[in-house]
Amino acid sequence: MRVLVVLTAAALVFVLFPPDGASERTCEANARKLVHRFYPLRHCQRSNRTVIGLLNAKTVRECADFARDKQALAFNYAPEGRNNTNWYDVVSEREHNRTNKTPWKPASPAVSNTFGIDDFYNCHVLDCPEYRNLSTIVNDTRFDYYTLYARNLPSSNYTCIPSIGMFLFENTKLNFSNAYNACVSAGGSLAHIASDARTFHLSKYLSELPSANNSASNNTTTMPLDTQYYVGLNETEKNRFFTSANERLDCFTFRAWAPGHPE
Ligand SMILES: *[C@@H]1O[C@H](CO)[C@@H](O)[C@H](O)[C@H]1NC(C)=O
Ligand SMILES: *[C@@H]1O[C@H](CO)[C@@H](O)[C@H](O)[C@H]1NC(C)=O
Ligand SMILES: *[C@@H]1O[C@H](CO)[C@@H](O)[C@H](O)[C@H]1NC(C)=O
Ligand SMILES: *[C@@H]1O[C@H](CO)[C@@H](O)[C@H](O)[C@H]1NC(C)=O
Ligand SMILES: *[C@@H]1O[C@H](CO)[C@@H](O)[C@H](O)[C@H]1NC(C)=O
Ligand SMILES: *[C@@H]1O[C@H](CO)[C@@H](O)[C@H](O)[C@H]1NC(C)=O
Ligand SMILES: *[C@@H]1O[C@H](CO)[C@@H](O)[C@H](O)[C@H]1NC(C)=O
Ligand SMILES: *[C@@H]1O[C@H](CO)[C@@H](O)[C@H](O)[C@H]1NC(C)=O
Ligand SMILES: *[C@@H]1O[C@H](CO)[C@@H](O)[C@H](O)[C@H]1NC(C)=O
Ligand SMILES: *[C@@H]1O[C@H](CO)[C@@H](O)[C@H](O)[C@H]1NC(C)=O
Ligand SMILES: *[C@@H]1O[C@H](CO)[C@@H](O)[C@H](O)[C@H]1NC(C)=O
Repeated sequence: MRVLVVLTAAALVFVLFPPDGASERTCEANARKLVHRFYPLRHCQRSNRTVIGLLNAKTVRECADFARDKQALAFNYAPEGRNNTNWYDVVSEREHNRTNKTPWKPASPAVSNTFGIDDFYNCHVLDCPEYRNLSTIVNDTRFDYYTLYARNLPSSNYTCIPSIGMFLFENTKLNFSNAYNACVSAGGSLAHIASDARTFHLSKYLSELPSANNSASNNTTTMPLDTQYYVGLNETEKNRFFTSANERLDCFTFRAWAPGHPE
């Protein structure tokens, strides 16, 4: 049951899995099951986080599909039919006209200009979501803000890895079951690592942790050998691993495990 994967980037090599009798359909079912859901979080506001894709979408569903396609973690959507002027701009413009003689110049550029494009896009997909302090939210009556992380807004000790997810390193010695449960009760799961991008970025994240102190190791290449991190793989059946989203690991093309791993 216990799975430890040591993320030694240098030692990651290809390991072929023995063929098994499972049909292709099972993996397809696996893939279909996992549709990340975006939740509406703010009405008449948008997030000013980094935009990784722009689209004119007819429906919020179309915008959400585009967001999934672009590996976005959140998006801003302006529904059709909503007045296409931002009332907050109008209000500050009035305020400005009332108190100043100089002609009005928008203080913050309009959304469209923010990207150096004159066209208006009603679907902005974002590489990272808002944190609990909503520090990059902007009042904009045209838009609503949707996020994958709405039920449990990430607190400031989380790290966003753009397009991958939100991660928190828990610097406590626990066994696998307790680590698994600690993540679940924090509203998450042990890190899903079954892709090159995930492995690469998580290794980087771990190697940059200031608290990864190991008395003997003043050498980043040896550090992971005596530091073990739990990741989201369960050996639910003998030699068959499942990810933290309960997907079969052998359905992933990712095979860059150290020799003999995962074990
Ligand atoms: C949005 O972000 C850009 C750059 O990231 C910044 O220049 C701008 O001031 C921000 N706008 C608001 C309204 O926060
Ligand atoms: C949006 O609001 C402005 C300002 O009141 C108004 O002039 C305009 O007609 C409205 N547009 C629509 C489509 O309702
Ligand atoms: C503010 O003043 C400008 C001209 O200086 C005018 O064009 C604009 O309509 C005014 N805006 C509002 C909201 O009154
Ligand atoms: C948005 O507008 C409300 C008032 O409607 C104001 O209290 C709040 O500070 C504004 N937030 C931002 C991020 O500008
Ligand atoms: C909000 O949280 C982010 C993420 O940790 C942090 O970088 C930022 O400084 C915080 N902003 C405020 C205003 O507290
Ligand atoms: C992260 O922050 C939350 C609340 O801000 C706190 O309850 C939790 O203990 C922190 N976790 C770590 C690992 O620092
Ligand atoms: C994990 O540790 C807890 C107590 O710290 C213990 O009750 C539990 O049996 C352990 N589980 C395993 C699988 O070792
Ligand atoms: C994965 O392991 C954890 C901890 O041992 C256990 O609680 C959980 O039920 C397991 N999940 C599956 C799908 O086997
Ligand atoms: C890490 O180790 C250094 C010296 O090796 C020490 O100064 C520092 O306080 C340690 N940090 C933590 C978080 O234990
Ligand atoms: C770590 O290594 C650097 C040089 O690579 C050295 O200057 C430093 O003193 C070492 N620190 C410890 C705690 O051994
Ligand atoms: C780290 O350790 C490895 C093997 O123990 C050694 O080959 C390498 O030169 C060391 N690197 C540094 C920067 O000390």
